[in-house]
Amino acid sequence: MTRIARTLRRLTLLFAVLVASTAAAGGLDKLPADYTFKPSDGSPGKVTFSHGSHVDPKKPGCTTCHPKFWKTLSPGATADGKPIRHDVMEKGGQCGTCHGKAAFGFDSCDLCHR
Ligand code: HEC
Ligand code: HEC
Ligand code: HEC
Repeated sequence: MTRIARTLRRLTLLFAVLVASTAAAGGLDKLPADYTFKPSDGSPGKVTFSHGSHVDPKKPGCTTCHPKFWKTLSPGATADGKPIRHDVMEKGGQCGTCHGKAAFGFDSCDLCHR
């Protein structure tokens, strides 16, 4: 891991801990479970999406993602039913709605693939 990747990882872990402690202090009691995507061919490792690091329990804002981008009733499914692909994400689709813009991009694979 590069130094930047390590720093980013520490920051995101800190962020997750902060979010988790806010959850304990009030707001939503419980967030939906983490979801691990089924790796597609060539995936360098499993990607787990965590609501804990994406949702502020005080201002849940579930509609940022559901149902516009992600279905809730069929876990793992994108709204348009297409598989997650980097060419789509690089153009701002799927996780690339934020990653590569407001959130870290796709250079450090192990921030997502673990
Ligand atoms: C940043 C985007 C984002 C936000 C915000 C978000 N989710 Fe999700 N959610 C996802 C993704 C990605 C998945 C996993 C893929 C899927 O199931 O479509 C998921 C999965 C789920 C699932 C299915 C989980 C499973 O394993 O069965 C439920 C239920 C869910 N979300 C509810 C919520 C609720 C309630 C909120 C607000 C508190 C919320 N989500 C906020 C992106 C988001
Ligand atoms: C609504 C915007 C948004 C969407 C959509 C989104 N993310 Fe994030 N994600 C963030 C932000 C903000 C952070 C905090 C770190 C940062 O600012 O770079 C984050 C952090 C993460 C982290 C590091 C923390 C952790 O949970 O380990 C991972 C991994 C991650 N996102 C994966 C994903 C994946 C996979 C998807 C698509 C299924 C996705 N994200 C969709 C905004 C988003
Ligand atoms: C922001 C999160 C994120 C980052 C960073 C990321 N990926 Fe992915 N990647 C995903 C998700 C989500 C999938 C779909 C689930 C799967 O196949 O494991 C995926 C799928 C893939 C796939 C199979 C689908 C396709 O588009 O070919 C490959 C190959 C891949 N990633 C390579 C990489 C490499 C190499 C890096 C680093 C240069 C990287 N990824 C960084 C989230 C990410």
